Order: sequence, then C-alpha cells, then structure tokens
Amino acid sequence: MSTVLVTGADRGIGNALCRAYHARGETVIAACLEESDALRALGIRVEPGVDVTSDDAVRGLAERLANSRTSLDLLINNAGIAERDALGALDYDAIRRQIEVNTLGPLRVTEALLSRLEPEARVAFITSRIGSLGDNRSGGLYGYRISKCAANMVAVNLAHDLGKRGIAAVVLHPGMVATAMTFDDERHEARSPEDAAAALIERIDRVEPTEPGAQPAFWHAPERTIIPW
Ligand SMILES: NC(=O)c1ccc[n+]([C@@H]2O[C@H](COP(=O)([O-])OP(=O)(O)OC[C@H]3O[C@@H](n4cnc5c(N)ncnc54)[C@H](OP(=O)(O)O)[C@@H]3O)[C@@H](O)[C@H]2O)c1
Repeated sequence: MSTVLVTGADRGIGNALCRAYHARGETVIAACLEESDALRALGIRVEPGVDVTSDDAVRGLAERLANSRTSLDLLINNAGIAERDALGALDYDAIRRQIEVNTLGPLRVTEALLSRLEPEARVAFITSRIGSLGDNRSGGLYGYRISKCAANMVAVNLAHDLGKRGIAAVVLHPGMVATAMTFDDERHEARSPEDAAAALIERIDRVEPTEPGAQPAFWHAPERTIIPW
C-alpha cells in the first residue's frame, strides 16, 4: 500500500484520482482548496485550504505531514485553472493568475514536500497537450498555453533534481475531460473524470525508478502516446 497526495482534489480529475486510488486500497491525502465532506466520508484524509499559490498554505501542508510523520510514495500535481482569452483582448492579470496556479503551483508544492518524499517516490505533473510547443497548431489560449508550457519546463527541471535522489517524474496529459474546466460544447466528446483518472493511474503505475539525468516523458495518458514538448 502506498501513500498518494493529490492537489486540486475538490472536484474534476483530482477528485476522481483520489476516489480511484482509495478504491484500490492506497492511503490518499486529498489536498483541497475548500473542504470535502464527500471525500472525508469515504475515509480519505482531506487537507483543506491548500491553495497552491500560497507559500503559507503549502508550507502549512508540509508541516502537518511532517507532524503526522507522513511520507509520500506519489505526489500528483493536478491543481489547475484555465481562462479563455483572445489576441486583441488579453487580460494580463488573468495570464499571471494562470502562471501562479499552473506553473508556480507545482513547483511550490514539490519543493515544499521534498522532505516528505520517499527515496523511490514518483512525482506526476498533470499539465496539458495545450502547453506543447510542437503540437500547437491553432494559436489562442495565451495564458493557459504559456502557463502549461512553462509547467512542462518546471517538471523536466525538477525531474533532473529529483532524479539525483532516485525520484522519478512523469508529465501527463489527461485527454479532453468533462469537468468544470471544459466548455459545454466540448463536453460531448470529452471523457469522464473517472476514465481520465484510470488512464492516468495506468500510466503512473508504469513509471520506473529513475536514474540521475533521465528525461521524463510527456504522455497522452488515454492514447498511450508521447506528445512532443
Ligand atoms: N479537463 C480537461 O479537459 C483537461 C485537459 C488537459 C489538462 N487538464 C488539467 O487537469 C488538471 C485538472 O483539471 P480539471 O479538468 O479536473 O479541472 P477542474 O474540474 O476545474 O478542477 C481543477 C481543480 O484545481 C483546483 N484549484 C484551482 N485553483 C487552485 C489553487 N490555486 N490551489 C489549489 N487548487 C486549485 C480546483 O479547486 P476549486 O474546485 O475549489 O476551484 C479544482 O479542484 C488541471 O491541471 C488541468 O489543467 C484538464
């Protein structure tokens, strides 16, 4: 049995990941922005108030884990936001917000929890295909693309530093998923959060212990293909 911590567990993919890991017997810590009575009712440890943009909140989480002598076999940086935008009407504060959550959030959380990671732990980053430079064929979505592209760099950079400790990193696209993040008109072709969580878990299960200098891969989890950076 392993211990898994998921950020952004209030709803969507993060919530489904918590339920799926719990259902197969792992010890799950759901790091939520708010409370989650529903996850608590399942017996999942809920850590409310974990805003990944807040140094104090993330430090507080690290302290509570240390005080309860909790160490992690798997950290999943899932929390994210997406704000629609268009050239000619860009909102630079919105772009900054997305960078705070999507780019600096996973860095802040991973750095704060370094001492909680087991020697052969894994760290997963749920970024997005939309952050791929090589796969960008349509433009638009400036804030989300920039923040997720930079999140990929955060993940690769951390992978090198984590690899020196034997900790493996993996970068994951969950596919298009019907959550609060997706538009109504996108949802009919989107997979459920439960299906996305199952595909992510299957990929994370395959991550091998790492060697120093190893490059992580950027996986389209449901399609089992590699996405160009
Ligand atoms: N849905 C898709 O098609 C899709 C595709 C590619 C990648 N992704 C990525 O998958 C991840 C999960 O997205 P989702 O579709 O499940 O979206 P979602 O339903 O909107 O869930 C996002 C979660 O992140 C939390 N969150 C937002 N800001 C936060 C912050 N500052 N600190 C901590 N938690 C915060 C939200 O909390 P609240 O509920 O309280 O706001 C929510 O629980 C994101 O990183 C997203 O970019 C999603």
